[in-house]
Amino acid sequence: MYISDDIFYIGVNDHRIDLFEGQYPVPHGMSYNSYVIMDEKIAVMDTVDAGFTEEWLLKLSSVLSGRKPDYLVIQHMEPDHSAGIAIFMEAYPDTCVVSSAPAFTMMKQFFGSDFNTNRMVIREGDTLGLGRHELTFVAAPMVHWPEVMVTYDACDQILFSADGFGKFGALDEEEAWTDGARRYYFGIVGRFGMQVQNLLKKASGLTIQKICPLHGPVLSENLACYLSLYNTWSSYQPEEKGITIAYASVYGNTRKAAELLADILEKKGRKNVVLMDLARTDLSFCLENAFRYDKLVLASITYNAGIFPYMDNFLRLLKEHNYQNRTIAFMENGCWAPTAAKGMMEILKDCKNLTFVENTVTIRSAVNEDTMKKIEALAEELAE
Ligand code: FEO
Repeated sequence: MYISDDIFYIGVNDHRIDLFEGQYPVPHGMSYNSYVIMDEKIAVMDTVDAGFTEEWLLKLSSVLSGRKPDYLVIQHMEPDHSAGIAIFMEAYPDTCVVSSAPAFTMMKQFFGSDFNTNRMVIREGDTLGLGRHELTFVAAPMVHWPEVMVTYDACDQILFSADGFGKFGALDEEEAWTDGARRYYFGIVGRFGMQVQNLLKKASGLTIQKICPLHGPVLSENLACYLSLYNTWSSYQPEEKGITIAYASVYGNTRKAAELLADILEKKGRKNVVLMDLARTDLSFCLENAFRYDKLVLASITYNAGIFPYMDNFLRLLKEHNYQNRTIAFMENGCWAPTAAKGMMEILKDCKNLTFVENTVTIRSAVNEDTMKKIEALAEELAE
């Protein structure tokens, strides 16, 4: 992968992984990116996950061609990027570790050493001259941990963006950037919209030709498009018009109501109507669609005088991720005392700027003629 005449990619692809960060299915694998800047001084940008440090060190050695690195820049201490620090320092003990103060605290916690005999503690705006390249460090706290710094190389106009602009998926898999990047964003960084907005404001003052993230491809074309998507996502605005219908059903009656609603909406010409079975779809995909579109229908059975556990989990995930600025509708089912709509509203009531539609569909056990009229009324309201 060409980045520039003297910046080289030494990242790795992980096809063994089942759950990224212990929870996100990654059917297309994952990449852990790392880069080397070969200048008068040599800087290595981040390390890789523990399972791939040997492969990474071999790639590094090949690029170095007998030279020794001067700096190891650590932008983010999450182990998918930092696990190789100790083994790197054993191989290249004279290297200076360059990172933020909170990152060195974490190094002590992870490795029992904060490399205090050979380190450089950097702060917002600090620079590191390598010769032709000069790196400027930009604080990006909570994108995605508090110690994160991103790095700008004014020479080649490259932004090393840490987790920002990353995506799920190994680099040798064919997948559109948005498909892996949107779910990655909302699952991992989405809760920190304000901090991403702060970073975007800082980035807007830079001329950027390429973005080199720690996951996913190097971005070198249509950067305005990626920046615009990040602005939309981090300001919690819907990306496009559409309706996610998320349902939790036990015997299929609530599912049938959700499917009937989807059919009517599609017959009315609504695009992007997406049905999601909360019990059988990983919630990261449901979260992605809930944020992608402007309307969300929540359909749940009543369970133990509350809502079904899969719906409960989903709603708490939405709330935890600062879900806002959307239109919400409820469908509830109950054989003797349907209360799911009230329970769902209770969880979402503190979310900012949610509009709740007037029509709530209450199903008594199974869809009947009367319920069909309510579903049609809801479809009418949602299609407006
Ligand atoms: Fe890819 Fe927050 O680590």
